[in-house]
Amino acid sequence: MDKIAEDSYVLVYRDRRRRWLVKPKDTPKLHTHLGILDMSALVGREFGVTVTTTMGDELVILEPTIEDLVMKLARKTQVIYPKDLGLMVVKLGVRSGSRVVETGTGSGATTALMAYLVQPTGMVYTYDIRPEHQEVARKNIEKLGLSKYVTFKVGDARLGFEEKGVDAAILDVGDPWEVVHSMREAMKPSAPMAAVTPTTNQAEKLVAKMKEEGFVAVESLEILLRHLEARVGMTRPSNIMVGHTAYLTFGRSTLPPSHQSETVLTPAESRRPTDEQQ
Ligand SMILES: C[S@@+](CC[C@H](N)C(=O)[O-])C[C@H]1O[C@@H](n2cnc3c(N)ncnc32)[C@H](O)[C@@H]1O
Repeated sequence: MDKIAEDSYVLVYRDRRRRWLVKPKDTPKLHTHLGILDMSALVGREFGVTVTTTMGDELVILEPTIEDLVMKLARKTQVIYPKDLGLMVVKLGVRSGSRVVETGTGSGATTALMAYLVQPTGMVYTYDIRPEHQEVARKNIEKLGLSKYVTFKVGDARLGFEEKGVDAAILDVGDPWEVVHSMREAMKPSAPMAAVTPTTNQAEKLVAKMKEEGFVAVESLEILLRHLEARVGMTRPSNIMVGHTAYLTFGRSTLPPSHQSETVLTPAESRRPTDEQQ
């Protein structure tokens, strides 16, 4: 059974909106509008315990998941949200041992999730043009104890990546179509790529460039997430909803034309599948 240590991250939970991520060592007394909680008294107790604040409010002490940790990281930039990260992980097939190239690093939220998944033998290579953004990300990744699985590189992704044959690629920059060519060169043929764009204009330009670069299975989509207020006999959708986070575009790289020559296909077979057929 996992016990709470001085240096453990602890999620103090009341409900979806009222939750605090702290370490007993750094915050021996947690001051909230629900009263004060003696965090040092939690050391040695089991996660899952219910505790009472000085005002008599009950809070539950949970072991944070990677979602809790990622959402509480310091932010210097917009980050990719869990609802989008979830599908990205499935589409990219990132797992223990994967080599992943990512740009831009931003605040390192995506980097953190990928590093968590590729450990203990994989690596995330993350590029950002702005050193001050990477500094925030580096500290975030250090705090989570994931530095061994991340290689930080400051540089303009449009100029290319040093890695070759990577298993998965992630693009989250303002002009992703400018990076598609260099990203394809870093990717193993057939590897998946996920790109994030806030606007449809960007998604449209990106898809055109991906097709030009020989990507197949190209698809753009948006995930809308609506919570249910579930109560016996009166369950209804929540009034509040995040209207938009980002459009996600996925695709699979293919062998460049110069490497395709050994395979002889009949003319009918040689047509590339259309989007509808994919
Ligand atoms: C929205 S943030 C990425 C957020 C990140 N995905 C996360 O979840 O924390 C975009 C980042 O891309 C970087 N960037 C923009 N253009 C770039 C380029 N050409 N090469 C490398 N990084 C770039 C920016 O400096 C910025 O830090």
